[in-house]
Amino acid sequence: MSLIDAARAVRENAYAPYSNFKVGAALRTKSGAIYSGCNVENAAYPEGTCAEAGAIAAMVAAGETEIAEIAVVAHSPTPITPCGGCRQKIFEFAAPDAVVLLATLDGDQKSMSMSELLPGAFVKAHMDTA
Ligand code: THU
Repeated sequence: MSLIDAARAVRENAYAPYSNFKVGAALRTKSGAIYSGCNVENAAYPEGTCAEAGAIAAMVAAGETEIAEIAVVAHSPTPITPCGGCRQKIFEFAAPDAVVLLATLDGDQKSMSMSELLPGAFVKAHMDTA
């Protein structure tokens, strides 16, 4: 199954009764395994979580930490890009040249690199003191 197909499939399970905006994310790790996640909203709005966060949590729970590629799918006029917080979350586990595939349900598709999405990311090395 392609990453985009996996993201489309998990999007169906999104819990988005407040925004009515369902999002699916699927990532492939260097081992070749695919992990997916959808957005999960909450009556206390800030407690909702993004699709990307769900896919990352599934990956880490399975004992993996290296994202090779990630796809995000939504029903939108143009492909959505991950929110700022999710860019930082993905960056933690992806190399700067990792591919981020963005697609609409209608098949409009775009590919970006992690570093295009989050130039100048804050990383662990910034906390290293001499
Ligand atoms: N959302 C995601 O799951 N991923 C994104 O990249 C952008 C936004 C969700 C959060 C919320 O449940 C809904 O989309 C509307 O913002």
